[in-house]
Amino acid sequence: MAQSVKGTRDLFGKELDWFQRIEDTARRAFHRHGYREIRTPILEEIEVFKRSVGESSDIVHKEMYDFVDKGGRHVAMRPENTAGVVRAAIQHRMLEASDPQLLYYIGPMFRYERMQAGRYRQFWQIGAESFQVSTPESEAESLVMLYDFLRELGLEHLSFSINSVGTPECRPAFHEAFRAFFQAREAQFCDDCHRRIQENPLRVLDCKNASCQVALEGHPVMVDFLDPASREHHARLKEVLTELGLPFQENPRLVRGLDYYTRTAFEVLSSDLGAQSALLGGGRYDGLVKQLGGPQVAAFGWSIGLDRLAMLMQQLHGETRGAALPVLIPLGPVAALKALALARTWWAQGAAFTLETRGSALKKALTTANRTGAPLALLLGEGELEKGEVTVKDLAAGTQAAWTWDEVAERLRAHQD
Ligand code: HAM
Repeated sequence: MAQSVKGTRDLFGKELDWFQRIEDTARRAFHRHGYREIRTPILEEIEVFKRSVGESSDIVHKEMYDFVDKGGRHVAMRPENTAGVVRAAIQHRMLEASDPQLLYYIGPMFRYERMQAGRYRQFWQIGAESFQVSTPESEAESLVMLYDFLRELGLEHLSFSINSVGTPECRPAFHEAFRAFFQAREAQFCDDCHRRIQENPLRVLDCKNASCQVALEGHPVMVDFLDPASREHHARLKEVLTELGLPFQENPRLVRGLDYYTRTAFEVLSSDLGAQSALLGGGRYDGLVKQLGGPQVAAFGWSIGLDRLAMLMQQLHGETRGAALPVLIPLGPVAALKALALARTWWAQGAAFTLETRGSALKKALTTANRTGAPLALLLGEGELEKGEVTVKDLAAGTQAAWTWDEVAERLRAHQD
């Protein structure tokens, strides 16, 4: 029997109930802030990722699903969506005027990763990107939207971990100091870090190897090398977050696994997640639009892994409420036809319920209703047909009542709320 490909999975049932609930909450929160959805293709030319996420990043270096298509184009299945959104914004000339562009997306991403809990090769992200915004206040706006969205989902133990990774102008001095630090203890670093120090020294800070993390003790920190404007930006962001009561801590080792960040980089940690506790990440990327062939445009954004978030919601809150619906059970062929006509009216009036269409006898239909967790069974037999009623059995409480056909839709709607 064929199985789903390693690292991918089918979404259905309770897990998908959580996905949908999170997506609905996200859309409402983002629309309140004026963000509009964008859907970009899963396939992009591989250059889009090489020139943005970066050739030295693990994502491009090791984890990309890329291939040459039948027309000889070298394409990749998107490992993330920021690069695709930037490519689309340039292509459709959304960034020619200086008006802010506020965009969000929800969709699957692909990374050929080592398997571990909560990490998949096809996973889902919800993300928000804002363009033509350069102030710390604009970052705070995006972070408030994110924080309030997560709070609306009932998450409580959240904090931001923030850093400034500077600009291409102030990085060379940092690189020099960092390389000198590295060389003084190079035997203590892993082979990958020896490659990283050549390609992109910041990447060394991101190494997951415990002995490299020890060797990094006392390393030069980027915030000491910031140019005055970046230092002012970083200080102002901290001030605004403090004023707004958004909990944060500074983390000088936070660089993130993508090359495009400038100035602010951040993650959100949830103590409910345990060990590897970053729920999401993002930051500023003022150079990326130009790097991909567009104008010089300031930009900021983040994306959250939906798979982990859904897992967390399930752990914290159990099942979503009210997955199983009431069921309407007609008894006999005359009732079966009438039930279809009545059901159609009630559905149109906004009631949610399923219809028993297999012609099952009462006992069997009730057994099925109980097994699937239906809260109510609405019976339509000969007696009910004559009186214009349904007999309603509350399957949890074991009680019974009669509703006229006119009141069914309203009562079912009340039951849903
Ligand atoms: P990222 O840190 O690579 O950033 O991914 C963001 C989030 O996606 C992670 O924090 C994690 O929750 C989730 N994620 C990543 N890989 C996997 C995986 N294999 N399985 C499950 N979840 C995963 C970005 O992708 C940037 N585009 C964020 C951004 C937007 N920066 C600016 N704008």
